[in-house]
Amino acid sequence: MNFPIRPRRNRRTPAIRNLVRETALSPADFVLPVFLHEDAEDTPIESMPGVTRWSLEGLVKEVGEAHALGINAVVLFPKIEESLKTPYAQECYNDDGLIPRAILALKEAYPSLCVITDVALDPYNSDGHDGVVARDGLGELHILNDETVAILVEQAICHARAGADIVSPSDMMDGRVAAIRAGLDESGFEHVGILSYTAKYASAFYGPFRGALDSAPKEGDKQTYQMDPANLREAIRELQLDEAEGADMVMVKPAGPYLDVIARLRDTTTLPIAAYQVSGEYLMLKSAAAGGWLDEKKIVLESLLGIKRAGANIILTYFAKQAAEWLR
Ligand code: PBG
Repeated sequence: MNFPIRPRRNRRTPAIRNLVRETALSPADFVLPVFLHEDAEDTPIESMPGVTRWSLEGLVKEVGEAHALGINAVVLFPKIEESLKTPYAQECYNDDGLIPRAILALKEAYPSLCVITDVALDPYNSDGHDGVVARDGLGELHILNDETVAILVEQAICHARAGADIVSPSDMMDGRVAAIRAGLDESGFEHVGILSYTAKYASAFYGPFRGALDSAPKEGDKQTYQMDPANLREAIRELQLDEAEGADMVMVKPAGPYLDVIARLRDTTTLPIAAYQVSGEYLMLKSAAAGGWLDEKKIVLESLLGIKRAGANIILTYFAKQAAEWLR
């Protein structure tokens, strides 16, 4: 047959395929999310096989291993003791709290590491919501926006004081990026960046994470603040607000089921885009591989490549260490 144009020529040998490859993963793309608690023990997390809730000492060791593999950033998630949880989540800006101590320990051990912190009330809030909960006369729950934002500002400043490089508000309250930016600047932390969870969807894929931290809402769900999975234009609206409010980087979460959102934001902003491959995505791949049904290395690298190809510069993934090892 006479086909002058044959795309298969560019796929003929490994050398040619390497020449024409459009996307490459690197350990430097990854942010490792790490869980920590006050205990001296390192505890395997039941809802996330292969993931551990670390003691402070274990955390420093784990992050050191990741950093040695070329992973330059971590994001910290604390499990807070039940007795420290309150309706106004005061523990979240305690300078002697678990997160400030972890930031200090990590920055001391690894000055070249980028430490990112999660800014939201859910681990500290006795109601398990990302914001302060109020109940109206009819008994309906309301998540108070502006009262929450004031606390998030304190939390962000507390993290900055301990040495955080980037704070990452994951709460989805309105106006929080502007308020945190102003609070950081007034406190002399104009060099501390904000990675905003711009399009964080009200997703069932967070289930295993809430198990890991015991942070599930005691009542109700997060649909009045996290986004409706059906919406794409609304993500652009959130992006425009975050850009105007001074976010340095924006995030889409979850990642795999929302590649169209990543791609659209990529086309719409010049800011770096992060995507969070969340606990449920991790669990799906991990359990299919554990069952022998999927090839773990291939499926994980393909899932991460897809996220990067869609337009994410930065990928938060529980596979960061494994993937960095595979990529070596
Ligand atoms: C809460 C927060 C959540 C995750 C990161 N920060 C859960 C939630 O919104 O309920 C989920 C991460 C994951 O599932 O891996 N501020």
